[in-house]
Formats: sequence, structure tokens, C-alpha cells
Amino acid sequence: MTIRPARESDVPAMAEILNNAIVHSLATWMHKPFSLENRRAWFGERQAQGFPSFVAEIDGVVAGYSSYGPFRAYDGYARTVEHSVYVHADFRRRGLGRALMAPLLEAARARGDHVMVAAIALPNEPSIALHAALGFVEVGRMPEVGWKFDAWRDLLLMQKIIA
Ligand SMILES: CC(C)(COP(=O)(O)OP(=O)(O)OC[C@H]1O[C@@H](n2cnc3c(N)ncnc32)[C@H](O)[C@@H]1OP(=O)(O)O)[C@@H](O)C(=O)NCCC(=O)NCCS
Repeated sequence: MTIRPARESDVPAMAEILNNAIVHSLATWMHKPFSLENRRAWFGERQAQGFPSFVAEIDGVVAGYSSYGPFRAYDGYARTVEHSVYVHADFRRRGLGRALMAPLLEAARARGDHVMVAAIALPNEPSIALHAALGFVEVGRMPEVGWKFDAWRDLLLMQKIIA
């Protein structure tokens, strides 16, 4: 497995991984897959703002990615970031999620970010377990703030104070 900074050419693979989770799971509350144009714009914006994104490659195939961006767009939240980590369904439980989080936390430390937030759409035991293993702690639950697959869904907020 290789973990490296994401490049523009990785965007189609990253989009496919995310869209798969959108269509087949409750991990995110988007209802329809993103277009490639949308993901290219998203990636360009992350790059332009100086936020990090990483991919995990196995035998040349992009099998997962991680990234973070602003938590909320007010000045006072400038040192708080919210991240995403997605691993392709065929490559889970092999350490990729943990490996993708390491450089993200390192980048946050280097940038001087203070808090990293995981907003976890429930149910998602793998994500809760991954974040707990990395020192994230539960700080809040928001009942029924999301709607997907014909039911109201709860959001779990976990955070880690980085520095
Ligand atoms: C959450 C996710 C990123 C984890 O990635 P992964 O590569 O499977 O995780 P890892 O193999 O690195 O596991 C790291 C740790 O997380 C925990 N974990 C991961 N998957 C787990 C599962 N299915 N059940 C219990 N614990 C799990 C374990 O503590 C594990 O450590 P261990 O293997 O030493 O026991 C992956 O399941 C995923 O992409 N899910 C869909 C998208 C998603 O939910 N993203 C997060 C949105 S908040």
C-alpha cells in the first residue's frame, strides 16, 4: 500500500469511491451521485485553499482517500477542520482507513489546526471504531437531522484536539 498526496488525475477514482458509498450506504446523506465536474471543482477548491488530500494506492489502484476542509466558514472556526475518509468496499479492514488518517492528522498539526471533527452519519460502527482508535471522542449526537433511504437518520459528532 502506498499513501501519497492526491492529484487531479485521482479525482475520477475518488469520485467513484464516494459515489459508491452514496448509492449503497448510509455513510453519507447525499441521495444522488456527484458528477465528475462537481468533484473536480471540489478538489480544485481544496487545493487552492491549501487543504490536504491523500489517496491509498494498492497495485496502482486508488483504493481510498482522505481529505479535510473548513468546519464552519466563520473566522472563529478557522482552526477547526472537518474531514472525510473513504475506503473502497473491496479494500476495507486492511488498515487503509487508519493509514489515510495518519498524514491527515500530521498535516493538521503542521498547519496549526486545533481541532478535527468527524461528523458521522449513523449507523456507522466501522467509522466510530476507526475514529475512537485514533483518539477521537464523542462530543454530540443530533437525532434525526438527516433523511436517507426513507427514514430520519442521526448524526454523531466526534472530535480530536490536535494541538
Ligand atoms: C470507516 C472506514 C473508512 C474504515 O476504513 P478501513 O480501511 O476499513 O479501516 P482500517 O482497516 O484502517 O481499520 C482501522 C481500525 O478501525 C476500526 N474498524 C474499521 N472497520 C471496522 C469494522 N467493520 N468493525 C469494527 N471496527 C472497525 C478498528 O479499530 C480498526 O483497527 P483494527 O483493524 O486494528 O481492529 C471504511 O469502513 C469506509 O470507507 N466506510 C465507508 C465510508 C465511511 O463510512 N467513511 C467515514 C465517514 S464518517
